[in-house]
Amino acid sequence: MIKVTFIEPGGQRHEVQTATGYDLMTVAVNNMIPGILGECGGNCSCGTCLVSLDSTWQGKAGNASELERSIISGYRSCSEDLRLACQIALTEDLDGLEISLLDEFY
Ligand code: FES
Repeated sequence: MIKVTFIEPGGQRHEVQTATGYDLMTVAVNNMIPGILGECGGNCSCGTCLVSLDSTWQGKAGNASELERSIISGYRSCSEDLRLACQIALTEDLDGLEISLLDEFY
């Protein structure tokens, strides 16, 4: 089990314990985390799982693919901190991950 913390724009924190092997969007939706909709079911096509990672976690979470970056650019100017939660596979390396939720989907 690893711990993931989702942080709302207003600062409210939601800690979740999860097994590895899932993607971050699925964990968020299954735990009713606000601001992550996951409308396409994790197919990297809707962008409703957009989140921000601080620099501590960007390298550990891997790089966004070209397709992922193109979806992100539909919402915001693409930057290194922005990721689609459905494209982040949860591994032991991400134990303690902190995710900032964005205000697009509240
Ligand atoms: S759930 Fe649709 S892009 Fe992530």
